[in-house]
Amino acid sequence: MKRIYSEAWNDYQLLDAGDNKKLERWGKVVTIRPDRNAYFQPVLSASDWKNQAHFEFIESSKSSGTWQILKNNTNKHWEINFNELTIHLKLTKFKHLGIFPEQRINWDYIAQHTAKGDRFLNLFAYTGVASLIARAQGAEVYHCDSVRQVINWSKENMLGSNLSDIHWILEDALRFAQREVKRGNKYKGLIMDPPAFGIGVKKERWKIENKFPELLELALQLKDKDGYIIANTYSPRLEAEKIQLIAKDLISNELVEVSNLSINSETGKRLDFGQRTLIS
Ligand SMILES: C[S@@+](CC[C@H](N)C(=O)[O-])C[C@H]1O[C@@H](n2cnc3c(N)ncnc32)[C@H](O)[C@@H]1O
Repeated sequence: MKRIYSEAWNDYQLLDAGDNKKLERWGKVVTIRPDRNAYFQPVLSASDWKNQAHFEFIESSKSSGTWQILKNNTNKHWEINFNELTIHLKLTKFKHLGIFPEQRINWDYIAQHTAKGDRFLNLFAYTGVASLIARAQGAEVYHCDSVRQVINWSKENMLGSNLSDIHWILEDALRFAQREVKRGNKYKGLIMDPPAFGIGVKKERWKIENKFPELLELALQLKDKDGYIIANTYSPRLEAEKIQLIAKDLISNELVEVSNLSINSETGKRLDFGQRTLIS
């Protein structure tokens, strides 16, 4: 299976990885966060990591924890840039900071394949870098997420990036996609980044490996003939081979490219981030 890499940029670097953690630089701030894919030995020593880092996330359960301050007087909110965008970062109790840097390869794709007036749909959109990229190209952007707080965070990013007029949709992504299909709406570009586990419309628990075929089928109905779909999946239960089989069932194979997505650390360690499916 093909492997693709997201590159570092001025304001983001994966400095090192190992010991089930990653050391990352976000502008001037360095963090240590848990990562189960970093099952190997790091290159730098534990004291090197602590000397560089401002904050470390200590997990108390699989999905939450607290931030330990390693350097006093460091602001807990700050901004970084990606191209002409300004993105607000915050220390969340879910260990995230507001962007997923491994998505960079998708942001570059969107920038290259989206033009003024195109319709663009971001499902499970989080703080919305993909939406901002498409909007900066002049696209008509629809941004759907079921959590109000992250939509508000996206709005901050939009305003901070001197952009306007993104259509915000606070709704279950699957339900919105189903309604858009019924309305006959189409999009030039779609990106979806469903979480591995989710809560559905009726508060039922769902797993991406069960929902992915339906999501992909809806996305295919929403895509313009000459459009594209990018889907990210992080579940170890949905390997690239399985995605290829699902996609094969729905469309002819040559249009689908399923790749493993990784970042190389500055110290040469490869960290994996699930799969990226591109349909074009
Ligand atoms: C993995 S994050 C997406 C990351 C984002 N694409 C990025 O790169 O910045 C998953 C997002 O899906 C949202 N979400 C979870 N379940 C949802 C649902 N059923 N419908 C819509 N959004 C949902 C969460 O609020 C979260 O923002």
